[in-house]
This record gives sequence, C-alpha cells and structure tokens, in this order.
Amino acid sequence: MRHLKYKELRDEYLGFFENKNHIQIPSAPLIPEDDPSVLFVNAGMFPLVPFLKGEKHPLGDMLTNSQRCLRTNDIDEVGDPFHCTTFEMLGNWSLNRYFKKEAIEMTAQFFIEVLEIDISKMYVSVFKGEEGIPKDTVSIETWKEIFNKYGIKAKIGENERIQEFGKDSNWWGLPTGGPCGPDSEIFYDTGKQPCGKNCNINCNCGKYLELGNNVFMEYLFENGVYLPLGRHNVDFGGGLERLTTISQQVSSVFDIDIYKPILEKVKEISKNQNIKSQRIIVDHIKASTLLIMDGVLPSNTMQGYILRRLLRRAIRHGRILGIEGLFTKQIAEICINQFNEIYPKFGSTKDEILQIIENEEEKFIKTMENGLKELERLISREETITGNNIFQLYESYGLPKEVTEEILKEKNIPVTNPEGFEDAKKGHQQKSRTASSGIFKGGLADTSEMSTKYHTASHLFLASLRKVLGDHVFQKGSNITPERLRLDFPHPTKLTEEEIKKVEELVNSAIEKKLEVHFEQLPKEKALELVPFAAFEEKYGDSVKVYYVGEKENPFSIEICNGPHVENTSLLGNFKIVKQESVGSGIKRIKAILE
Ligand code: ALA
Repeated sequence: MRHLKYKELRDEYLGFFENKNHIQIPSAPLIPEDDPSVLFVNAGMFPLVPFLKGEKHPLGDMLTNSQRCLRTNDIDEVGDPFHCTTFEMLGNWSLNRYFKKEAIEMTAQFFIEVLEIDISKMYVSVFKGEEGIPKDTVSIETWKEIFNKYGIKAKIGENERIQEFGKDSNWWGLPTGGPCGPDSEIFYDTGKQPCGKNCNINCNCGKYLELGNNVFMEYLFENGVYLPLGRHNVDFGGGLERLTTISQQVSSVFDIDIYKPILEKVKEISKNQNIKSQRIIVDHIKASTLLIMDGVLPSNTMQGYILRRLLRRAIRHGRILGIEGLFTKQIAEICINQFNEIYPKFGSTKDEILQIIENEEEKFIKTMENGLKELERLISREETITGNNIFQLYESYGLPKEVTEEILKEKNIPVTNPEGFEDAKKGHQQKSRTASSGIFKGGLADTSEMSTKYHTASHLFLASLRKVLGDHVFQKGSNITPERLRLDFPHPTKLTEEEIKKVEELVNSAIEKKLEVHFEQLPKEKALELVPFAAFEEKYGDSVKVYYVGEKENPFSIEICNGPHVENTSLLGNFKIVKQESVGSGIKRIKAILE
C-alpha cells in the first residue's frame, strides 16, 4: 500500500471522486444544525439526511466530502490503538443515481488502484437476507468479479473472501431512524494471529480493520417499521484515521503523521509512560479543540457536558502521568497547529479555544483541590478509607483513584473493601446510562451523586422561594455542578437577611421531614396545568415528567423536569444560601450549597 500522509490520503480520496463527477461539499460543524435528536454529527451522511430522503441537493446528486464526526459511544475504549472520539469520515454519495455495482466498483478501484492496497489482504462482507429483505446478490456478484479481475478466486462462506452476515452486522442506519439499508464492508487483514476460533472479519481484536462501508439506502425506518424509501441511495463512509494508520504501517492511530507530534509532546511532559493515559490526553484534547471551534462551551448539560467530561478526563490522566501544573493549553496548541490545514476555522478561533481550555483546567484543578481537602478530612475522621470513599472522591471532585491511592500509601492508611470502588462505579454507570438515554429528550446529563442531590435541592429551593416571596417567582435559569446549585428568578428587590433565613429554614424543614421524591409521566398540556409556572415550555416533548416532592395530593414541590433526583430528601444534608446577585433587570441569582 502507498505510504501517504493524513492530508494526502484525504486529498487523494476527494480528488478521485471529483474525477468521477462528484461535487465536493464542505464538512458540516460537529453540532447538528436543525436536528436536536442527537448531540453530535456521528457519520458523514448525517447532514445529508433530508437529501437521502428525497429533497433536491443544490449541488447535485453525486457528492463527496470528508466530514468531521464525534462518537461518544466508545469513549471508554479510547486509549487502545484505534478508537478516537473525533475523526474524519471520507464519504461519497449517490442521491438516487448510481447504485450497488457502480459504488462497489469505485470503492474497490480507489483502494486497489489508488491506495495500492494488496488485494490478497482484502475481505468483504455482504447482507445475507433477513426479515423479508432479500440477500444482496448484486454486491456478491460485483465483489466476485472484482476479486477475479485482480487474480483472486473469491468464494463465499466462513473465512472466505466474501462473507455473509445478517442485520446485526450488515445493515446500517442512524440509531434515531431515517434512511437505512443493507451494507457491504471492506476489511484489511493485518496478518496478526486470529484471537480465537470465532475470530472473523467483524471481530474487534485488531486482526481485521475496516477500510470502509457502502450502505445501500433503499429503506426508511420510522415508527418501528421499515418502509421502502422509493429511492436507491448510496452512502459510503471510510475512517480517514484508520486508513492512514494502515497506509503508514504504524501500530496505532496516534502514531500517524498528524497525531505523532501531539503524542510526543505528551510523552515529553509525562513522568511515567502509561501509553493509554497518553493517548486519552491526545484524543480528548484534540476533540475539545474541535468542539470549541464549533461553538461549544464547557457546561453541565448536553454538548457542553461532553466537552467538560473530555477535558476533565484528559486532566485526570495528566495527574496519573505525574504531569504537574497546567498543561492542556500547550497540548491544545499543538493539536490546532497540526490540524490547521484541515480546519481553517482554527485560524480565527485559536486564541479563544486555548483560553477556554485553560480556564476550564484551572477550575477543575480547584475542584480537585477541594477533593484533596475532603480526603484530608476523611483521613482525620476515619481509621480506614473504603473503596466506596475513593469512588465518591473521584465522582464528586474528579480526584483520580490512582492519586488517592498514592496519598493513602504515603500516609500508611489502609483501604478496606477496595472492590467497593468498582461496585460504586458500576452502579453509577448504570444510573448515567439511564439518564443519558433521556438526553435525546432534552434532559440533563450530569448525573454525579452530588449533582443529583442538587437537582432535588433546586426543587425544594424554588418551592420555598415561591412560598416566601410570592407566586411571581419562577425558574428563569438554573445551573448545577457537583459543588453548588444556581437559580435565576424574577424578583424586584434584593432578598433581606430575614427572607434568606426563612427560605433556608423551609428547605431544611423539607429535608428533615424525609419527603419522598417521585414522578409521573403526563401529556404536556396536563403537566402545564399542574405546573403553570414551568418555564421553557418549548423545550418539552409531548410527554413530560412531573416531579413531586412529598405527597402527591399536597406536595411540598411540584415541577416539570427530566431529573435525575434522589429518592428521599433525607439524603440531602443541610441547605445553605451562599451568594446573592442581580443579573439583568429584575432577575436575581442565588447560589446555594448542601453541607
Ligand atoms: N454511514 C455509514 C457508516 O457510518 C457509511 O458506517
């Protein structure tokens, strides 16, 4: 295979399809423009959905591009040689023009003749037919001809050149529905030993790497059923990072030309050489620069929350590597310099991106320092520290497990039930998954234990404010971190000491009463009747959750909300108002904590 640089490979691909009369379209930003159903553009076809469905594309019906994508589903895999949070997906599309045969022939020509991939290392998969949808015989025949042309007698079957699979492997569409269909993937055999008896081209062990995927979009998935789309589209996608890794014959994505200088810098400032942590830093900081370039700011909800998580995870891994002081900015600067040509928007956004990243790091370091103080407090109170304690420090303050363990070791403090860490983590992940499945409905994404408490405390707080100040109070804005809650609400004058005290007492009395927190799912209209002061109505779907604190007939608080919440107010601790400000005309902002 030809040895090409990242940008060269990208240009070769786009040039090849332009020569085949495709029009190059620009990469869309990572944040979907008019589609709130997903947080990020996660495939090249995503911005083209309306056109795959039949709308006329202004630039024609044969298109190509290299689209930046972000996938959060395998964020935990980052650190291995191949997973990246952000990547470029090379794409070519036929909007009801050419179909299977032409698409596969062009893909094969690009791989075999342009990239000069050794065909003896190529394997392909095709759809075997399932659920009333027929076997993809056109793709099978086309691949047979292609292998034949290059001197390989291709057979169909297990371990053969052409392998058939069902919908599990050879069907593609967005998780949220829309255009979809059978696909045909191309794999490269790295020559590694198979990982076991069941190792096949779909195995993730690293023996086979996916080069690309042609999806034949003839169906529409809507309301749980597949309908004929009435059009024959092609959606090809190939991961540029992965192709470059194969082209450059390096063992990891992070060793290709465009990433290498970033990894080298991380290695240079690391005190120990934990490659997994180093790759995580490279990946997460690069992804953060792209997110900020596309207009995302760190926050506790939606895209901003993912950005915050990426940055915090990178910083935590910095601590694991023994990196001292602020370091994200210098890594981000190398990322931007490396990717400048691919993303010209960096030119006008670079300084701002670097500033935002450094500010976030400073903030997080303060939080971790609070975690260290909390650890000191625990040590002075308890004889031993539990695995669960270590998890809570990690979850609430971002203190890495390894850092806590090292401090305990230095001080000769034993850890009891160390497995408690993993147990607590699993429990937490379960909770996060449940909560993030609600994110598509516009829910909240920060599900740490402290944030969950603050969500419930916010409800008690708003209800108490309304009782003390009057019914004109409603939630104009809210922001929750694991350290505090913040609520903005209309009220003409500053709250007096006495009013503040009354509000605190009311909240704390609700906490002492050990009130249960529960919800019911109601149609939006019904919910708004019950909670007429609910703000931001346009955000809600047709069916919403109404949260009650206390008995349903006479609740202490009732609000429309997606949660997450604690089950009982007794879990909250002592509520205290710490700051009052005026923000804008007639709007008061109060910050409060749980002690
Ligand atoms: N959209 C297809 C994929 O992501 C090409 O695999």
